[in-house]
Amino acid sequence: MLADQSDHQVAVPREGYDFVVVSNRLPVDRDVDENGDSTWRRSPGGLVSALAPVMAKHDGAWVGWHGAPDETLEPFDHDVFHLVPVGLSELEVKRYYEGFSNATLWPLYHDVIAPPEFHRTWWYAYRRVNERFARMAAETAAPEATVWVQDYQLQLVPRMLRKLRPDVTVGFFNHIPFPPTEIYSQLPWRKAVLEGLTGADLIGFQRPGDAQNFQRCVRKFLGVRFTNGAAEFTEATLADAAASSSAPGRAASDREDGRTSWTVHAAAYPISIDVEAIRELASNPATKKRAREIRQELGDPETVYLGVDRLDYTKGILHRLKAYGELLEDEKLSVENSALIQVASPSRERVESYIQLREQVEGIVGRINGQFDTMANTAVRYLHHGYPFEEMVALYMAADVMLVTALRDGMNLVAKEYVAAKQDRSGTLVLSEFTGAAEQLKQAILVNPHDIDGLKEAMLHARDMPGSEAKKRMSSMRRQVLTHDVVDWSQRFLEDLASYGGQSVGSDTNDRNAQ
Ligand code: G6P
Repeated sequence: MLADQSDHQVAVPREGYDFVVVSNRLPVDRDVDENGDSTWRRSPGGLVSALAPVMAKHDGAWVGWHGAPDETLEPFDHDVFHLVPVGLSELEVKRYYEGFSNATLWPLYHDVIAPPEFHRTWWYAYRRVNERFARMAAETAAPEATVWVQDYQLQLVPRMLRKLRPDVTVGFFNHIPFPPTEIYSQLPWRKAVLEGLTGADLIGFQRPGDAQNFQRCVRKFLGVRFTNGAAEFTEATLADAAASSSAPGRAASDREDGRTSWTVHAAAYPISIDVEAIRELASNPATKKRAREIRQELGDPETVYLGVDRLDYTKGILHRLKAYGELLEDEKLSVENSALIQVASPSRERVESYIQLREQVEGIVGRINGQFDTMANTAVRYLHHGYPFEEMVALYMAADVMLVTALRDGMNLVAKEYVAAKQDRSGTLVLSEFTGAAEQLKQAILVNPHDIDGLKEAMLHARDMPGSEAKKRMSSMRRQVLTHDVVDWSQRFLEDLASYGGQSVGSDTNDRNAQ
């Protein structure tokens, strides 16, 4: 077991870091060679690219789990990052990560598509691990530093950190949806989680609707009303809420953080992608060549449909496959004329609902292929792997129709990546209205993925759309994505956070090329 220290304020480190990011995972992946030696590689993804220049400029550190259980690592440096690994025991991985984060909060926050499970042992582990992250952040941050906590795995950290280090400014960004009150109410620890979040000076959400849901929950369960996105918190407010909470949280008398009142801001900051990285790859002749090869390998069909998702029940992969199978059955599509590539990258593979989903997806792919394949053609190319980003961009460039049919998704960055990769403005995007991205990509063909007939029509409409209209729509979506990249997102959030009391952290445009 990895032990936690007791819950006192920590000494302010004299040599701390001015900007600290805290997320469940560190922004690096480990490669182990045949001699057992490990090397680290920067993880792909927009968040990491967006924050790298900020880290480089502001003496930044990143606190997170390095991905392996029962292993304690010392802090180390890798490219622009000072990395502070947080250890998790095998049991904590089961209870905090697979359990409370991904079998309680994840389904609860995604419209209960899968039933959330509520277990007290998972909650205790979540609280204990959040405390560990908060303590690591508190020991890493310089006096009056800015600390930016990421995502649903760490919702208790803002309040815990404020308590340990009242001098720091705390931001929080929720990458996933925030559910409506009626659903959120199911959580037995609903007050304690809100209390945790409202330790932040600024809480960012993907959509205005998520920020509103959060504000309503705070009103209902903590009795505090937001006005124009801001609410005043005092020790007394939280003490009242905790006193009437059934949660086994801390007693009100434990709160001695010195800052007895603070303003919490809650607003939408829709995240985006690393447009520059995609622009470079999409302009590279090697990627263009690979895109042509992919089409050839598929036998040059008229229409290439593409789905790219983590294998997650929120992504609507079954709905998409059902619609595609029916279109083949109806002879609206044929295996000679069209191909569906479904990349489903492995995810959370020990969590029961993910195990079940994999069986269902593989069952339906098997049935469709068994029914429609010929010696020469395959109906669905199902790829249960992760791919390097170059290959993903080549796939986007090769695809005529991108299918994003999520049943609920905080944002969906695949939709934005597809648009960014289409430099020739070809291609159409079928996009679920239940994604955050649908609020920005209004020129996509918007669908309700539960309506299988509607989805089938949209898939044909996407194929048959006249080139001029498709180009017009793609141009308009590209304007949106290209002018709102992930660097703008982080700058907007950090500027607002600074204006709410913290020191200024940000990167300027020149830093973008410095990575
Ligand atoms: C979503 C979450 C992230 C998470 C990612 C991958 O995008 O918002 O916080 O890191 O999924 O999931 P994993 O459980 O593998 O970290």
